[in-house]
Amino acid sequence: MRTYVITGAASGIGKATSELLQERGHAVIGVDLKGSDVDADLSTAEGRADMVEAVTEKSGGTIDAIIAGAGLSTPTVATAKVNYYGAVGTLEGLRPLLVGSPAPRAVAIASMASLYPPDEDLLHLFLDGAEDDALARAEALAASDPQTANMIYGTSKRALALWIRRHAAREQWAHAGIPLNAVAPGIIRTPMTKDLTATEEATKSLLEMVPMPLNGIADAIVVARLMAWLTSEENTHLCGQVVFVDGGSDVVMRGESTW
Ligand SMILES: NC(=O)c1ccc[n+]([C@@H]2O[C@H](COP(=O)([O-])OP(=O)(O)OC[C@H]3O[C@@H](n4cnc5c(N)ncnc54)[C@H](O)[C@@H]3O)[C@@H](O)[C@H]2O)c1
Repeated sequence: MRTYVITGAASGIGKATSELLQERGHAVIGVDLKGSDVDADLSTAEGRADMVEAVTEKSGGTIDAIIAGAGLSTPTVATAKVNYYGAVGTLEGLRPLLVGSPAPRAVAIASMASLYPPDEDLLHLFLDGAEDDALARAEALAASDPQTANMIYGTSKRALALWIRRHAAREQWAHAGIPLNAVAPGIIRTPMTKDLTATEEATKSLLEMVPMPLNGIADAIVVARLMAWLTSEENTHLCGQVVFVDGGSDVVMRGESTW
């Protein structure tokens, strides 16, 4: 039996992953705003610190895997806070608890939306700037036209994917025996996408933006199974990979350009 910490565990992909791992006999410490084992607001530094304290207490100081899944897709500054700082804060804050595990693992949920052109200013501020400056830039985007405001989501996910690439081979992760990876889902049927897939017409236009030639829109369990493997003992050598589980949107959009 392994102990997993899953953020965003009260809904959608986090909930499906939590249920899958529990069915397989593992212990899960779920984290969410409410409705899970640990109530925490991961959009603030204080909320993240409280989360780490509560998880440390509940786990007795050792966990086997972190699944950083909490996220928002609204065109707001809250999305910048949770998707980037919430995820990175979860990974960095809980990493010391992995040290006592015989098979420590970590995964974050990025998105195929990381493929869309980002707001370059916000991207650089996320990765190399101060949090206050990044959030000020996100505020400015949020106050702009809808198309510009929508860039917050894809930019936050691109920054998260790049953070994983930047850190996976470093001392604290690979050298400490911890595979650190991300998944990048296409459209998944969860409360987050409910309105976007409410009608046939809406679904059709969504699939024009996010082409999914392989089996179309997926259920949350599809991502859950992949994250369960990425955080299992079997995953000994995947390092810093951003695994697209997207029915083919990455292949359609990027083709052969990744080499
Ligand atoms: N559904 C999709 O099509 C899709 C595609 C790509 C990536 N994703 C990503 O997958 C992850 C899970 O999304 P989902 O589709 O299951 O959505 P969801 O809305 O069903 O679940 C997200 C969970 O995150 C929690 N959360 C939001 N803000 C939080 C905060 N400040 N503190 C703590 N928890 C917070 C929510 O309460 C919710 O329970 C997100 O990171 C999302 O961006 C989803």
